[in-house]
Formats: sequence, C-alpha cells, structure tokens
Amino acid sequence: MAQKISLTRYLVEQQRVDGLIPSQLRLLLEVVARACKSISQAVNKGALGGVLGSADSENVQGEVQKKLDIIANEVLIEANEWGGHLAAMASEEMDSIYLVPNRYPQGEYLLLFDPLDGSSNIDVNVSIGTIFSVLKKPEGSPAVTEKDFLQAGARQVAAGYCVYGPQTTLVLTVGDGVSMFTLDREQGSFVLTHENVKIPEDTKEFAINMSNMRHWDEPVRRYIDECLLGQEGPRGKDFNMRWIASMVADVHRILTRGGIFMYPWDKREPNKPGKLRLMYEANPMSWLVEQAGGAATNGRQRILDIQPGQLHERVSVILGSKNEVERVTSYHSKL
Ligand code: AHG
Ligand code: MN
Ligand code: MN
Repeated sequence: MAQKISLTRYLVEQQRVDGLIPSQLRLLLEVVARACKSISQAVNKGALGGVLGSADSENVQGEVQKKLDIIANEVLIEANEWGGHLAAMASEEMDSIYLVPNRYPQGEYLLLFDPLDGSSNIDVNVSIGTIFSVLKKPEGSPAVTEKDFLQAGARQVAAGYCVYGPQTTLVLTVGDGVSMFTLDREQGSFVLTHENVKIPEDTKEFAINMSNMRHWDEPVRRYIDECLLGQEGPRGKDFNMRWIASMVADVHRILTRGGIFMYPWDKREPNKPGKLRLMYEANPMSWLVEQAGGAATNGRQRILDIQPGQLHERVSVILGSKNEVERVTSYHSKL
C-alpha cells in the first residue's frame, strides 16, 4: 500500500524540496490545522459538548453569534498568538484586528479567518467549516494597523478551509495547486487524499439561494432563467441545483465535481456590494478555485484584483467552473 503522506510531511517537503514556503509559513499552517482539529472535535460533540445554540451577542456585521462562532474564534486566536509566526489576526467575528500580544515574539504574517462558516447549519447537523487567508505584513511596517490588511487577494501567500462534514477535510493552496487532506481521527493527523485538484470547465450544476430571485439583478436572473429552461432552452442541457448555505460545503462540492456558486448583489440591501465578506470568504475561496483551474469574479472584475477599502468589506461572488463563470460575467458586461 502506498505510504500515507501527512500534512506535516507535505508541508516539510513544500518547504525543503520545492522551496515554496518559508519555515514560518509552514509553522503557521500547522498551527491553523491543529486549531481546525480542535474545532472539529467541538463540532462533533454537538449537544453533548454544550456547543449548540446562540450566544447572547452580535458581531460587527449585526449578525447574531452562535456559541460555536465564538468558540472557533477563540481556538484560532489561542492557537496562533504565541508561535512567533504572526504579527496580527483579523476575523469575521471581531470588530477590529487582533495584534499579537507584546509578551510573544512577532512574526511577519497576517492571518484572516471566518472561524465558523455556515453558522445557520450548526444546530441542524449540516456541514460547516473554517476559512482562512494568509497575507504578508507589508515591509517596513513595525506596528501593524488595519491598513496593512487591506491587500488584494492576489497577494495571499496561503489560503484554505477546513470542512466539518461526514469527514473533516482540510483544503489548502500555497500557490502551487490545491491539495486536500482528510482527518484520520485514529492517528490524529491530516492525511493527503487529493492532489492537484481540478474543477471541470463546464458544469450542469448551479448553487444560488433561489429564494432571493425577485431581488436579483438582470444578468444573474438571465443566467438562472436559461439554466432552468433546460434541454429545450438556449443552453441545450438540463441543470441541477444545490444550496447548502455553508459556502465552505458548496465550494468543496465544486472543487470535487465542478459547478458554479453565486451569492450576487441583490436589491434587499442595495448599498451593500453583496452578502459575503471579501477578506474572509471571497478571497481565500477565489484563490483556491483559480488554483484548481476555475474562475471567480464579482460580475465585473476578478475578485482577487479587488483592492479592499475596509476590513469587513462585502462583495458579490460568482465562482466555480470557468466557462460558466465567464458566461455570467459576460452577461454583466452586456448591460
Ligand atoms: P457565516 O455563517 O460565516 O455568516 O456565512 C454564511 C454565508 C455562507 O456560508 C453561505 O453561502 C451564505 O451565508 C448563506 O446565506 P443564506 O442563508 O442567505 O442563503
Ligand atoms: Mn461565512
Ligand atoms: Mn462565520
């Protein structure tokens, strides 16, 4: 039987053989993976661990926090603050950036995360996850400020997610393709189970929250209308639909078998560019998707090229199989 490759070994080889990642980044990714293992443990315990239900608080975006949102956020901070690999962190669940305390050594990386993605699925035992993005602290910037985080997604040095589903799977890119690691609970380690992940360029499966249809903009409505017409319509084929309401799980399906995912701008809150967050959700997922041969745009431009104006910025998201994403994007330019 072929030898199993652990995440630790994979990262060591990426550092040593391919020179792709410096040792600080390797340590950072190891620590994030360890934190994900611990979150996975809490998720698995569910009601037995007292982790279900809401906390009595709201986050900066005005969303009610679940207990697990807060637990996952704390696990990630506690795991990452002392290792010397980070300068600061930013999270969907924290109003402002978290500087590594003075008592610990400062590293050169910035870590951003959505500690618990798919919060509405926690209590109903449906797949949820953690999404993370790693940036380098700009040179010559001794005291980190929020401005240092405002870098376009194209400048990420690592990105990934961990999905807590029937299996716990960590998916990672450091700019050299996408690899997947499944948690072996007996060994307590992530094992490489899929390398060089590729998203098929075409698909017959779309993911969008259809209940928002009446609020969509014309290009999105046209695209979905055409899919719904099936074989008899302009696309000449029948489409299938999936919507898990955990971006992590929807993107995992797309990385595994293709598809298109959309959370577009809509008329419910016209002043917001979209629902999903650029820095914690759209950027890391877009990089993973591009690294797997897919595409990601906001309808007008490549997501990874967007210059963020603020930490908690939102964005319209269209990502997945290349030809479908290009089609929806072209419908926007024809307006
Ligand atoms: P989060 O749980 O981190 O707030 O993210 C939820 C996001 C995303 O995961 C998902 O695709 C989307 O919200 C679902 O939104 P709807 O409930 O509007 O479909
Ligand atoms: Mn999320
Ligand atoms: Mn979240």
